[in-house]
Parts: sequence; structure tokens; C-alpha cells
Amino acid sequence: MSVRIEKIAAGELKAKPAGENLGFGVHFTDYMLVMSYRAETGWAEPVIKKYGDFSLDPAAMALHYGQAIFEGLKAYRGKDGRIYLFRPTDNLRRMNDSAARMCMPPMPADEVLAAMKQLVALERDWVPGIDGASLYIRPTMIATEAALGVRPAREYLFFVILSPVGAYYPEGFNPVKIYVTDNYVRAVKGGVGNVKTAGNYAASIMAALEAQGKGYTQVLWLDAIERRYVEEIGTSNIFFLINGELVTPALSGSILPGITRDSVIKLARAWGIKVIERPIAIDEVIAALEGGALQEIFASGTAAVISPVGALNYKDREYPVNGEMTGPLAQRLFDELQGIQYGEGQDDFGWRVPIE
Ligand code: COI
Repeated sequence: MSVRIEKIAAGELKAKPAGENLGFGVHFTDYMLVMSYRAETGWAEPVIKKYGDFSLDPAAMALHYGQAIFEGLKAYRGKDGRIYLFRPTDNLRRMNDSAARMCMPPMPADEVLAAMKQLVALERDWVPGIDGASLYIRPTMIATEAALGVRPAREYLFFVILSPVGAYYPEGFNPVKIYVTDNYVRAVKGGVGNVKTAGNYAASIMAALEAQGKGYTQVLWLDAIERRYVEEIGTSNIFFLINGELVTPALSGSILPGITRDSVIKLARAWGIKVIERPIAIDEVIAALEGGALQEIFASGTAAVISPVGALNYKDREYPVNGEMTGPLAQRLFDELQGIQYGEGQDDFGWRVPIE
């Protein structure tokens, strides 16, 4: 499958934002990758073209029944000037898992990776060169067939857009305060909580707003049945360091199988740390906080990287974690991951993929 590139005239290129105040997901590059699908003919040739609006029928099924999935990965500018991706094949594999659950067609992952690399190579000047910044890559697939009726659509649009980003949270990579909600739930087993579909995020916004209104950055979700077992944070997976052991909720079907989560588990195990994936009740977390056994809590995600949790609020009581400071394990993981991603550290797992 070849990629067609529709070049933009030099005069039409956008001005690039200053590196220091990128924010997250507010600037978009000059080009995007677009590929359409029809059930009769399959995927059409991918096209790299000028970033811009789509024309969608008001009856496009994604707008009504939510067949919409996405991924998030980043391109990093190394100190050596090369551009690197981090585990892109895992993102595309997970996207096809999301597609399967949402009855959407799988995209040809190898060809998409090659086209995505071409897009990033074309946009290499947009990859920021400052610490902690990167080019966020957002592959997305939506149902475009115009029809009112709940069934799998027969037409889709796959696209990839790029956004130069800094830290996801306003706190930067400093500790964030998290609100444990027992009022709302995110997902149930058998639902779609373990895939990256748009509706999961729509359903989370009200709880996040309420948490923010109380002075917290994000929500920690509990399981939907007993409202007892820890699931994940709104934008990331969660880890607890308790008595020297790293505990994280098992992939039980209602949380996202994070690629950063998997990287944390593999790195920590390689360092000789015992990592346990199991159900962890919020009462156990609170007891460990009160008893002093809980050393660190941190979140992991592509956008969040490693985000230390400085305080947890549960049932309107705030519990500081590690004196509201970044713990040594969170710092070590952050440094190690960044080292691999920015092409400096040893890449023992083969996660880093150079663009050219
Ligand atoms: C990511 O970490 O890439 C995500 O998709 C989370 C999103 C809330 C930005």
C-alpha cells in the first residue's frame, strides 16, 4: 500500500508555537494522514494532506451511536537530533483490539505504521526539542456511513493528527491530587472500559469536573459493582508501592491495558522489584496510608507519563502521600522511560523505533 502525499505550498505552512508553553493538544501541525474504508472495497490508499476540516453527513453513524476509537502515542526528539517513536506497534495492535470490540474494521497495522512514520518524518520540524515536550500522535477511526439504525457502519474514516505537547496536567510532572469517586462509575466488566473508545471519556467528564471543583486534578475510579476495588485514574493506570512491593489493579476487563503500564511493570521487574497485578480495595489503600506502609502512588500513561499522586481524597478526607513529594520509584521510572524515549538510555526491551 503506497502513501500519496499532497504537498502544501511553503507559504501556507503554519507558524510553530514557542516550545515553553505548548500545553496539551491545542496546536496541530500542517499535515494529517487520512484513509477511508468501504465494506465493499476495503481500505483505500492512505493520503497525507493538509490538516483541515472533514465534510461529514449529519447522519454519520459515529455522531449517533459512538463508533469512534482512538490511540495516543508520541514522537520524541533525541539529543542526537533523531526522532523516535515508543512502542508504536503496541498502540496499533490495541487500536485493532478496540476496533474488534466496537465492530469496526481492523486497519492494516504495518501499512499504517509506515504511513504514520512518513507523516512524522514530513513534520519532523514540529517535534519539540525541549525537555518533557514531544509530538503527540492521535490515530482515530470513526464511522462515517450516513444511516440511522444501530448496527456496524459500512464506511469509516481513519486519520492521524499530530500535536506538539508539553505536560498533560497543569502541575507539569509534579505530584497531582486525586479524588476517589464512589458516586460515578466508569465501566463494568463486559462493557467497553478495556478499549479506547470515545464514549468512555465522555462518560468520565462529569466526575472529573466535580473533582476539579473540589480542587483535585483527576478522578480515581472504583469498580462499578461494589465501588470498592481500585480501577484506574481518568487518564492513566495507577500503581501503589506498599512495603516495597508494587501493586496495580489486574487487567480484569474494565480498565485500559496501558502501554506505559506494561512498560512500568517490565522495568520494575527487571530492577528486581516485586510487581503484583491483583484486585486492590480502596480500604486497603487507606489502611496502608494510615499505617505508613504506603510509600508511593503514581499514575502511568502516554499523556501523563509517570504522574506522582501527592494526595488522595476518599469520602471527603484528604490523605497526603509521601509528604506530597515525588517518590524515588516514580522518579526513577520517569527518568528511565524518558531516557529510552528520547534516545539516551539503554533500550533493553527494544521499545524505541527511530523514524528515519
Ligand atoms: C493518552 O495518554 O494518550 C490518552 O489517550 C489519554 C488522554 C486522556 C489524553
